[in-house]
Amino acid sequence: MGAGVTVTPSVGGTARATLAAPRIAPRVPARFPEGWRLPSGASATFAPNAMAVSNSLPASEAAVEILKRGGNAVDAAVALGFALAVSWPEAGNIGGGGYMVIRLADGRTAAIDYREVAPLAATRDMYLDANGKLTDKSIVGHLASGVPGAVAGMAHALERYGTMSLRDVMQPAIRLAREGFVVDTGLASSIRNSERVRQFEGASVFFPNGQPLVAGTRLVQPDLARTLQAIAERGPAGFYRGWVADSLVAEMQRGGGIITTQDLAQYTPRERRPIRSSYRGFTLLAMPPSSSGGVTMTESLNILETWPSLGAHGSTPWYHAVASAYQRAFIDRNSKLGDPDFVPVPLEQLTSKSYAQALRRTISETRATPTRDVDATMQALPREPMNTTHYSVVDAAGNAVATTTTLNGSWGSGVWVRGAGFFLNNEMDDFAAQPGMPNMFGLVQGEQNAIQPGKRMLSAMSPTIVLDSAQQVLLVVGAAGGPTIITGTSQVILNVIDHRMNLADAMRAPRLHHQALPDSLTIEIGGVAPAVQDSLRAMGWALRPLRSLVNVNAIMRVPGGWEGVYEPRRTGGASGH
Ligand code: DON
Repeated sequence: MGAGVTVTPSVGGTARATLAAPRIAPRVPARFPEGWRLPSGASATFAPNAMAVSNSLPASEAAVEILKRGGNAVDAAVALGFALAVSWPEAGNIGGGGYMVIRLADGRTAAIDYREVAPLAATRDMYLDANGKLTDKSIVGHLASGVPGAVAGMAHALERYGTMSLRDVMQPAIRLAREGFVVDTGLASSIRNSERVRQFEGASVFFPNGQPLVAGTRLVQPDLARTLQAIAERGPAGFYRGWVADSLVAEMQRGGGIITTQDLAQYTPRERRPIRSSYRGFTLLAMPPSSSGGVTMTESLNILETWPSLGAHGSTPWYHAVASAYQRAFIDRNSKLGDPDFVPVPLEQLTSKSYAQALRRTISETRATPTRDVDATMQALPREPMNTTHYSVVDAAGNAVATTTTLNGSWGSGVWVRGAGFFLNNEMDDFAAQPGMPNMFGLVQGEQNAIQPGKRMLSAMSPTIVLDSAQQVLLVVGAAGGPTIITGTSQVILNVIDHRMNLADAMRAPRLHHQALPDSLTIEIGGVAPAVQDSLRAMGWALRPLRSLVNVNAIMRVPGGWEGVYEPRRTGGASGH
């Protein structure tokens, strides 16, 4: 078994390479509780050279089109990102932001932070009413939007790490917008359930004649095609200046929003160093703040590594250990993290193995710890439907890209930019709009994440690349689902590393979630054996069953190529060549 790529004539390009097999223990068949609705043993999509996985098949195919034309994984990921803004508009976007983790076959890594920022006119208490009560203005309507970062971020990634022009990689997206694509069942159901879209101008596109678009309809978006064309021709200036920017600002002024031409003109993505951590001999490259994803995942996995073995997947000790680790990591996340350009963040401490040892000593082997024992101020309840989207791309040279992007809630703030054809985010709700009060995900966050002009709101997005002991890309993974992104992404990693599942089983395995507050252990209905539920309750866990947890899209190296799996609980597409 050779290490790394055996033939790499050009690292940034796409020259054919023979991928070495992963350095990983043999896979074993997974065993899930009887009656679990996603039985083990399903197969993944296999491709020998390259792979793209997302929540939209046309968008994954856009990436493969670019890979086949000689683009590398970054070229393809940027093509995919723009295509998602057309074919998965509830979450794919140009009016939002995201995070991209890159690992090139020559060992270079990057973490690109293109999170939205608070507008310059934002204030700490802008979402409180005259009586100091929190309103819903951080969620619905024009005031809810941060300054979008998606276009600047994707253009930055392409310029630094891609090989093709923006104009070329955007062609598939422009074609999808101009010529249309067929609405699938996932998109149709999302439109049907999007009450918010009906309230704003996007209704003319998604509810023609007042009726939601149904599956099978061809959706053509000429305004969006013109906007994408402007970006393809002028780069980020096609979005942040000129008629698209003017349309966005006019929309703001029409609806009482505060984003100005100055906000748009000065938006800049940040390139950061990925958090590099280890877990049982594997290396994780994860997103640093302004996302909490990498820190919280690293802290959780460091705690879990203190057990020589986690026990059988789905057993009582397994649920107890995994939930206890998440609970502690989220307590730190919610109180200590924020935008590192504005507040000090104790990165070293939170990601250190010795700190994890100390936290491990607070976990009883027999009893759940109530979160209030640790922090008595926290109380929370979740609200709101939601959507984000993650995509993973790898190429034949072994370059890998993990990207998560979002408008925050499904269809963002609902506000649609007239004439330019896209939705705006409601990312301002990811701030602690009132420190100590829950946001729409029930997250209770502190002063570190209070609103300030120009500041990035704390995120949970966790695009992650896992390397094997030979430092080859093993897994490219990430998710949608607010705080469950962190727990869902890390469980796919646990399933592969600890439980030796293949990727299909790792994605189908029942999931759990704990975020400190609400102080409940969320489980998937049908995913936990009744006897295990009884023993967890007896240990003091408050179980909260949900139909479905997290939307993950992942790629894994296998002998001879790659396997791709889109979220089995949702719709999507894995496409390769
Ligand atoms: O950045 C964040 O953590 C959130 N805005 C993500 C929102 C999300 O994943 C919604 N869900 N599917």
